[in-house]
Amino acid sequence: MLSAADNELLTRTGPATPMGAYFRHFWQPVALSAQVAERDAVPIHVTVMNQTWLCFRDSNGRVGLVSPRCPHRGADLVWGRNEECGLRCAYHGWKFDVDGKAVDLPNVEPDSALYRNVKLKAHPTREFGDIVWAWLGPGEPPAGVPELEFGLVPATHRFVTKKLQQCNWAQTMEGALDTAHFSFLHMPAPSVRSNDNPDAPADERRLRWIRDDPRPKFQIVPHDCGFIIGASRAADGGDLYWRTSQFMLPAHATTPSTLPGETYFGYTFVPITDEDCWIYTYAWNPARPLTNAEREKFATGHGVIAEVDKDYVPLRNKANGYLRDIEDMRHRSFTGVKGVAEQDAMVQESQGAIVDRSQEILTPTDMAVVRFRSSLLEGARALRDHGIAPASAATPAAYTLRSGSWIAPASTPFSEVMMQRFGDPVGRGVN
Ligand code: FES
Ligand SMILES: [Fe+2]
Repeated sequence: MLSAADNELLTRTGPATPMGAYFRHFWQPVALSAQVAERDAVPIHVTVMNQTWLCFRDSNGRVGLVSPRCPHRGADLVWGRNEECGLRCAYHGWKFDVDGKAVDLPNVEPDSALYRNVKLKAHPTREFGDIVWAWLGPGEPPAGVPELEFGLVPATHRFVTKKLQQCNWAQTMEGALDTAHFSFLHMPAPSVRSNDNPDAPADERRLRWIRDDPRPKFQIVPHDCGFIIGASRAADGGDLYWRTSQFMLPAHATTPSTLPGETYFGYTFVPITDEDCWIYTYAWNPARPLTNAEREKFATGHGVIAEVDKDYVPLRNKANGYLRDIEDMRHRSFTGVKGVAEQDAMVQESQGAIVDRSQEILTPTDMAVVRFRSSLLEGARALRDHGIAPASAATPAAYTLRSGSWIAPASTPFSEVMMQRFGDPVGRGVN
């Protein structure tokens, strides 16, 4: 559990909060590239950590992230014209480029000092992995965006989208790190028999091992930008079934199910307000392009990727009871809700807009959740109390990490499992 004060510290990311300051020392996703695909198109409002910006692509293809408020008399530039390499206010025609520089102020003399003094607040942006990232922190960014592997593979090898989640970012993040819940939330209904044939395809065996062992043993190994989590369950013939996942500061994770050759999945959590967040979700296969059939499957929801509408709101959501089907719950699935992502959203949103962590009772399977909280609290306090900026924000290459599954004899230590699965003790590198 956390004290009420620490719960506040962990969950609040507005501009005047310690966690907000900490998050602003990392590049943050602010939009999908697809949302601002077109040059000179209407800008879009984006809200990140309780601050709203305008995002647009100019005539040269550069992406800007600027304050929506025109410095003249405060009109919202979303109503302006995006043309000829800048955004022109609809009210009196003031125009700014993607860097926020005033390029035309039609109602003042051409030699006015206002050309030098007026600036629209603008933030540096980068595009990586089909996502627009912005530096919302102080000064210049110390390094480039985190080199998550999905962004390093060719665009043909990945699928990137996002979904709205209606609760605080931290409990959503915790759901990603607590891989023990798979034994229940994502299982078939109890009446559906596990396939206990040891020669069954891997999927069926994996499902049976997960269902039959609700107490995976957790191990955590820290690395340069967070930690790797190993969770082992009893498999067949004295083997252990290992599921590993990555946590990367401040709010990235990768999923635990991938066996060699399969497609990897990951997600990045970005607070919108303190009571909702975007989950940027991505699938990538390092070895080959994704097929059209796979893209279609992902577009209609698969694993951590939800089925969403044009505004990236899940089709099965809080307002419609996640379309829970009681017949399905009796005979087919544990929850009666279709989709792993939607099942996650159902329980995480049900914890409340910001879960009260002073009231919880933790168990050994919550080990990664506890470690996540202490990492974030420690980082935010170091910045607030001692001005220490997060070191991992300056090491983007440290973010090229994988996680996944492995089966090994029970005598195999976690470090050796990692070496066998990834050729590296913490899943570093691309191999
Ligand atoms: S309010 Fe924007 S130009 Fe006047
Ligand atoms: Fe889940």
